[in-house]
Amino acid sequence: MVDTTKVVKEIQEEYNVIGRTEELRQIVLAHAVNKNILLEGNVGVGKTTLAKAIAEYYGSNDSNFYRVDCSEELLPHNLVGYFEPPLVIAKGYIEDSYRYGPLALAMMNGGCLFINEINRMPESTQNSLLTSLDEGILEISKLKTIKAHKDFFVVATQNPAAHVGVTVLGEALKDRFIWVNLPYHTSEEEILIIKQEANLNSESRDKIAIISQNIIQVTRESTSIRRGSSIRGAIDLATLINQYSNSNSSKNWIEAAVMALYNKIELEDGLTQSKKEIITNIVLAVLNKSDFQ
Ligand SMILES: Nc1ncnc2c1ncn2[C@@H]1O[C@H](COP(=O)(O)OP(=O)(O)OP(=O)(O)O)[C@@H](O)[C@H]1O
Ligand SMILES: [Mg+2]
Repeated sequence: MVDTTKVVKEIQEEYNVIGRTEELRQIVLAHAVNKNILLEGNVGVGKTTLAKAIAEYYGSNDSNFYRVDCSEELLPHNLVGYFEPPLVIAKGYIEDSYRYGPLALAMMNGGCLFINEINRMPESTQNSLLTSLDEGILEISKLKTIKAHKDFFVVATQNPAAHVGVTVLGEALKDRFIWVNLPYHTSEEEILIIKQEANLNSESRDKIAIISQNIIQVTRESTSIRRGSSIRGAIDLATLINQYSNSNSSKNWIEAAVMALYNKIELEDGLTQSKKEIITNIVLAVLNKSDFQ
């Protein structure tokens, strides 16, 4: 049996992952029984961070880690591989003429295939994954059938189905993954993440991180805002404010917050206030509450 506590701690330390102890324990368990893992959660909850950490932890070296970022344009040959037409003309359908894609390479070399935002993958491409995932077999027409190395595994990430602009992952593909849900971090964890990711080192680092976290927290709770800010908003805000000579000025906080959050929040329809005004009011409310002036 795998010592999950030890492995989880190693992953957290080696890849600067803050918290996520429960989720990492689930992931380590799933990996121990050779399951493929699908991480699901809202924007910025750390799906990519966690998936990369696991993939790198289990991949013994760089050449065992294969990453695919999905889009509507990702075709089966981008995943599996393709014959290079001029080489086929010169040499025929032989291995030399073939360019293996990340799926084929991960299966042959026993690596981790990290599929980022898998729900953006078109259905035809999803289908090319099915037999690799459950039977460990990949058929390359006119060349060979690849049988997966025992260490081959897949970690994928997706945003929840309800998220705007996201297609739904096919049932067949979903069926082949173990599901691990990533909820929002706690406020305390978010503050630690902000400090780490915004490289805060001034003496006011605690204050900057707490205020930045409070501001994005309010954007998530405000009835005027349909989509509040992810942690990236707080990281950007803290990074910006750290550059001002005076991080105690509410004028500076407002300016930085508008820059950091403008594109990261979405207002409800029919409001009389502008986005700038709403951000300004949130900043002032948080600053007044946080007795820093
Ligand atoms: N547990 C964590 N420990 C350390 N940093 C984290 C953690 N979770 C998130 N972060 C940081 O927060 C930011 C967003 O994380 P990440 O990109 O992994 O989120 P995501 O869920 O993949 O977002 P998206 O849905 O937009 O792809 C990054 O700067 C990342 O380093
Ligand atoms: Mg991501």
